[in-house]
Amino acid sequence: MEVILQPDGQRAAALTAAIVAETVRRKPATVLGLATGRTMEPVYATLVQIHRDEGLDFSRVRAFNLDEYVGLSSDHAYSCRGFLKRHFFDAVNFDVRNIQMPDGMAEDLEAESHRYEAEIAASGGIDLQLLGIGVDGHIGFNEPLSALRSRTRVKALAPQTIGQNAALFGGPLKVPRRGITMGVGTILDSRRCIMLATGESKAEIVARAVEGPIAAMVTASALQLHPRCTVVVDEEAGTRLQAKEYYRWIFENEPEWEAFR
Ligand code: GLP
Repeated sequence: MEVILQPDGQRAAALTAAIVAETVRRKPATVLGLATGRTMEPVYATLVQIHRDEGLDFSRVRAFNLDEYVGLSSDHAYSCRGFLKRHFFDAVNFDVRNIQMPDGMAEDLEAESHRYEAEIAASGGIDLQLLGIGVDGHIGFNEPLSALRSRTRVKALAPQTIGQNAALFGGPLKVPRRGITMGVGTILDSRRCIMLATGESKAEIVARAVEGPIAAMVTASALQLHPRCTVVVDEEAGTRLQAKEYYRWIFENEPEWEAFR
């Protein structure tokens, strides 16, 4: 794991987008794992800008989203598909045939979970997975106590997650109660992943995920097991980290980061 501290949210998002853009330039048929949430909005906005300015080509990129709410149709504005359509897919040149999401309206959600895992495997696996983090430490909708080897399946949303998304849906009672999500094990199988966290509401959970023990109560802590995981935080989300000077030293000295400094 590597931790990169950036002065503010905009720069943290820009760095994340720069890594995605570089990955797509190097491998035009990259398989991307996408994430939704407010943290990701400036990442997609930056990618859209790079597409407009430099013609970054998404026509061969395959996209798999992490999760979807159960019971929301894909054209619902606050479904994960609706979010990505608005912030990303409609603004760049994705081929819709290359976009995959778990279907939260599927009649048989268990079969849908298996289908999704099979699609990911058939694509050759995820090259780069983007992740946010919930205030309860979730990645995707892998709520506290999710098995660290779990695969795509339905999970009940934790009260904290419902609270976090209540404003968006117009009140806690309107937030769906379940999500269908890639499992922690699915995420750990990606070749590379980037977890982005911004703002002081994430400071404590970021410190627990990065510097605390690996525990099912904080599913993001499982990323410590990932062979190539980069955690990008702004100053606010990084305030509770103990080893900030060490992370800065690595970022300054690791040749890999030369082009991104
Ligand atoms: C949601 C999503 C996660 C996301 C998290 C953080 O519940 N399922 O994938 O990372 O919340 O959202 P935000 O970026 O809005 O804080």
